Amino acid sequence: MTTTETTSALRSRLALALDVDDAVAAQRLARELKGWFGVAKVGLELFSAAGPPVVQMLIDDGYQVFLDLKLADIPTTVRKASQVLGALGVSYLTMHAFAGPAVLRAGVEGLTEGAERAGLPAPMALAVTVLTSDADAPPHILAKRVTAAVEARCAGVVCAAADVAEAKEIAPRLLTVVPGLRPPGTPAHDQARVATPSAALAAGADLLVIGRAVTAAVDRPAAASELVASLS
Ligand code: C5P
Repeated sequence: MTTTETTSALRSRLALALDVDDAVAAQRLARELKGWFGVAKVGLELFSAAGPPVVQMLIDDGYQVFLDLKLADIPTTVRKASQVLGALGVSYLTMHAFAGPAVLRAGVEGLTEGAERAGLPAPMALAVTVLTSDADAPPHILAKRVTAAVEARCAGVVCAAADVAEAKEIAPRLLTVVPGLRPPGTPAHDQARVATPSAALAAGADLLVIGRAVTAAVDRPAAASELVASLS
């Protein structure tokens, strides 16, 4: 499949994890892979290195931006940080569900307030349930964290592919965002609860986070093409 054949509906469900430490490298990757990905994920590494201007750069390049900062602090601090981040024009922001519903709610409200002041639509708040690198989380924890996300009126949760069905059962209207994806035969790196992108889609994932499976490939466009072909 070529880039022009990647439907816009599928592109908007594929988030490219730009886990690099400078804006120039991020833009190079983002532009190279634009045909396959509609969402650019800015995580702790890139945001620490390049800050808010990298968000605007990606928006200017036509991406929806997913700010993966996994906020977890006292409610007032999360609310104030979310007000600032809500005014940047991002589409998604993550917070840690372990922080509890009061913190998540402060984040949701802060995002709405910041976006309103900037005249922008409110970004979607995503609660990170269990890290996909964590193989030891007790089984009951997923339900507790999904419930916290619902109580706080988050738009979605971040979870492993194996947890999508349970998350949807508890909260059918929550978006499910799934990282830890590896096409068959590719290395898992530090991820513990991996799945193939097509298995995640079949499980009902709404947004797939793709990182090193494409960004660390020798031929990145070929890896992106193969990924998309596996989903069609
Ligand atoms: O390279 P890889 O596909 O493992 O990248 C996964 C991305 O998703 C990383 O940016 C990581 O920070 C993020 N992430 C994750 N697990 C979560 C939430 C986010 O791996 N639960």
